[in-house]
Amino acid sequence: MKALVLAGGTGSRLRPFSHTTPKQLVPVANKPVLFHGLESLRAAGITDIGLIVNASGTAIRTAVGDGSAFGVEVTYIPQDEPRGLAHCVMIARDFLADDDFVMYLGDNVFAEGIAGPVAQFQTERPAAQLVLVKIADPSEYGVAELDSSGRIVGLQEKPARPRSDLAVTGAYLFSPQIHDAVRRIRPSRRNELEITDAVQWLVEQGRDVRAHICTGYWKDSGNVTDLLDCNRALLEKLTPGVRGTVDPLTQIGASVVIEAGATVTASRIDGPAIIGSGTAVKNSYIGPYTAIGSGCLVEDAGVEDSIMLDRSSIRGVRSVKGSLIGREADVRQGRQEVRVHHLVVGDDSLVEVPA
Ligand code: DAU
Repeated sequence: MKALVLAGGTGSRLRPFSHTTPKQLVPVANKPVLFHGLESLRAAGITDIGLIVNASGTAIRTAVGDGSAFGVEVTYIPQDEPRGLAHCVMIARDFLADDDFVMYLGDNVFAEGIAGPVAQFQTERPAAQLVLVKIADPSEYGVAELDSSGRIVGLQEKPARPRSDLAVTGAYLFSPQIHDAVRRIRPSRRNELEITDAVQWLVEQGRDVRAHICTGYWKDSGNVTDLLDCNRALLEKLTPGVRGTVDPLTQIGASVVIEAGATVTASRIDGPAIIGSGTAVKNSYIGPYTAIGSGCLVEDAGVEDSIMLDRSSIRGVRSVKGSLIGREADVRQGRQEVRVHHLVVGDDSLVEVPA
């Protein structure tokens, strides 16, 4: 079985980050979202991976390389424009040949991995199998309707009035029958070839399209709120360990990772949290659900439920929460007076906040 991982697209909902970094490379729990996906595929026993990248896909090529760091073999498949998920299947035809495959969206996070749905597909071997999650309002996703035996009988893409509470996640299991389907559909209202329409075509042809209901944590990390949510879920899975230097004045709570080369002085860290290599934390409070990248500085500050990208700094600001701080961004004390700072700051930004 192969995998087709989609890491093209524009990432418009993650601006300004996606101006400088493909959204799939934004880190959660100090690791790019895409890396979590590659590790999930490897854990499901899939090592032959086609990776869709956009025309300027150099950042992803540089980060992933030939895949050997993840124990997989990567074949790059460039896409000229984001023409839709089904278009990705079309341009990967030679790579996929007549093998079964998982199509995996590179911005999706399955905290418990995807070995379960892969095993179910390999046992039952339907024409296609979608991984679904129950969501109160699934109108921002593909939505599936099932019959009483659990087979998929209808699909809609981002419907205003969903016919069920079952959202389509970004792990699709396909037999080669999907190649016929992607050629039978027309571009949608958003001018994309939708994989939802291709699977709907299989349903209409009476093919066996099944569902795997995912009960573990799943999220599409496509916007800042959901990215922070993914960060919380994945931080809870880290194995704690202090490999950096911590002075006697510092208090370290449960579920904290301090990577080698990090230094923490006169501070308190309440996990789940991770502090990256080369980062200095001085006289500060790091609260739960915080991921601080490499080479950062946190001084006389308080940060919780936030992500700091590499080489960013926060100085003299005690109430940073629910924030995403870009690479080399500098957040520091200013002069005006306000109490709460809710920040979404792009790469290379400078923010001055009140004292
Ligand atoms: O996350 C699950 C949802 O993903 C499903 O519920 C929807 O049915 C499905 O259409 C898809 O919706 P999105 O609107 O969230 O897809 P998005 O445009 O964000 O693309 C998903 C991933 O695929 C992302 O990593 C970018 C990549 N991509 C996207 C397009 C349109 C490509 O590589 N090429 C493309 O042409």
